[in-house]
Amino acid sequence: MKKIDFIDLRSQYKAYRNEIDEAIKKVCEKASFIMGEEVKILENKLSQYTGSKHSVTCSSGTDALLLSLMALDIKPGDEVITTPFSFIATAEVISFIGATPVFADIDEKTYNIDPVEIEKKITENTKAIMPVALYGQPADMDEINEIAQKYSVAVIEDACQSFGAEYKGKKSCNLSTIGCTSFFPSKPLGCYGDGGAVFTNDDEIAEKIKSLRVHGQTKRYHHRYIGMNGRLDTIQAAVLNVKMEHFEDELKKRAEIALKYNEKLKNIRGITIPFVKDDRTSVFAQYSIRVKNRDKLIEKLNGAGIPTAIHYPVPMHLQEACRYLGHKEGDFPVSEAISREIMSIPMSPFLTEEEMEYVVECVIF
Ligand SMILES: Cc1ncc(COP(=O)(O)O)c(C=O)c1O
Repeated sequence: MKKIDFIDLRSQYKAYRNEIDEAIKKVCEKASFIMGEEVKILENKLSQYTGSKHSVTCSSGTDALLLSLMALDIKPGDEVITTPFSFIATAEVISFIGATPVFADIDEKTYNIDPVEIEKKITENTKAIMPVALYGQPADMDEINEIAQKYSVAVIEDACQSFGAEYKGKKSCNLSTIGCTSFFPSKPLGCYGDGGAVFTNDDEIAEKIKSLRVHGQTKRYHHRYIGMNGRLDTIQAAVLNVKMEHFEDELKKRAEIALKYNEKLKNIRGITIPFVKDDRTSVFAQYSIRVKNRDKLIEKLNGAGIPTAIHYPVPMHLQEACRYLGHKEGDFPVSEAISREIMSIPMSPFLTEEEMEYVVECVIF
């Protein structure tokens, strides 16, 4: 059997090669590398897909989050409530802008931020709540939006792992004040480098973000804000335009693979399969299981040629970079417990039946 990829991007390229090569060639021939027409075409597609009035593409998921905080004018002294169990970018951007990340622990089953814990962390300095749709499943957005409304704060959905997921019939990225996604190559919708997008239904926020991503410019060489270079390359937009056409099929395949994994692993002692609530879907950016004896299983799988990953081994409050916040072990016990047991196994729409069977066999026996 060929070597199993953790996320099989090579097979994906082979499948769409002609369309992708052609799309990239077109951009090169036109030499319109910055803000070419493919960017606008993509933004229209993204709005149509998510139902969000505005889609503003940008240079990465991290920059999408950063642009959102900048657009909301979040400053030093302000607090943003988020989960301690995510990729570092989520808390990093809050710190980077000089505000304070305030962590609220997660739900034991979905691994997403617990709304009950959020409300306990609200203070007069709270300016926003930043839930993450971890592994591709949206958080409890109704409850979170309700808390935000009660205390007049914004909600930025970190949907970097959940483009395409649904929550009560609506698309992730369009569930709150602002949604942010990532087009990092291994994401459910990935480009061939870094990329991201911000989504909002608010005209003013959209205009500000469009300006912030080009150095706060309102017209050429006239700058209203201190902004940044946060644009998406035209070539990346061209790749994404091709991939968008295949995206729904890919999501179906992801769901089928997750279902098969679930069926085969659900009764295995010592393993907890992913839990997705009835009123939403997951796009399974990762297929992550809880395993009592994680190190042993990782060793076994890696030994059998199966790649694995841990998302995430250290919760953010215990990261060296966050030491200045003064947290200690035991502050967020659910996140800490999950980080000790969670691990991800290969998942992609191009994982074959044979490969999946092999992974399952190695997990079970
Ligand atoms: C939850 C989450 N937030 C933010 C990011 C940052 O996205 P990017 O890598 O595109 O900057 C990622 C991507 O890894 C992510 O998974």
